[in-house]
Amino acid sequence: MPNYRKKDFPTQDARRLLEPGPIVLVSSAHGDHTNIMTMGWYMMMEFTPSLIGCCISEANHSFELVRKSRQCVINIPTVDLAAKAVKIGNCSGRGIDKFAEFGLTPKPGTHVRAPLIEECYANFECRLTDSSWIRKYNVFVFEIVKGHVAVSPKCPKTIHYCGDGEFMISGEHTRRFRKLFRPQML
Ligand SMILES: Cc1cc2nc3c(=O)[nH]c(=O)nc-3n(C[C@H](O)[C@H](O)[C@H](O)COP(=O)(O)O)c2cc1C
Repeated sequence: MPNYRKKDFPTQDARRLLEPGPIVLVSSAHGDHTNIMTMGWYMMMEFTPSLIGCCISEANHSFELVRKSRQCVINIPTVDLAAKAVKIGNCSGRGIDKFAEFGLTPKPGTHVRAPLIEECYANFECRLTDSSWIRKYNVFVFEIVKGHVAVSPKCPKTIHYCGDGEFMISGEHTRRFRKLFRPQML
């Protein structure tokens, strides 16, 4: 299993890892309960503060933990963790401790009580900033308040869900279109 050394990461740069849409593991804690769920439905919403909207079904155990604690951690797994990410997304944490069940290590955060998943490439600590879309869309709008990202590799092999059991594993990165950007759009 990967053992990443991480450094502080500017929260306004979280989008550089999140915009391409890798599936993420949402860890949460409330009272004595901690949990993990897999999530593919989210979107970046603002640069600064760094805002992300997350669609968490109310049928999920995580929904109540996140709603009550008003926090979570968004963890980015790499392809080494793909099978675990699928299994985590196919069971409920109501009756089991998913950290123990899947051999993952909860690590204390600095800004939220929800645990970081140590084996993930990146961890973003989040606080709920707008609850007004929860009732209508099950969308929680979080502010990313702290980022921890592995020092290497620079381009992690993230996993991107395409539906119907199919995934894309991130491949080639290129900067050849960079000159086409206006500087404020980078
Ligand atoms: C690849 C993948 C993507 C998923 N994306 C989402 C999502 O965006 N939102 C959601 O509510 N559930 C999503 N799920 C389903 C949850 O992860 C699943 O319901 C999980 O078992 C919930 O766990 P919990 O009840 O312990 O919270 C996804 C599952 C997989 C495998």
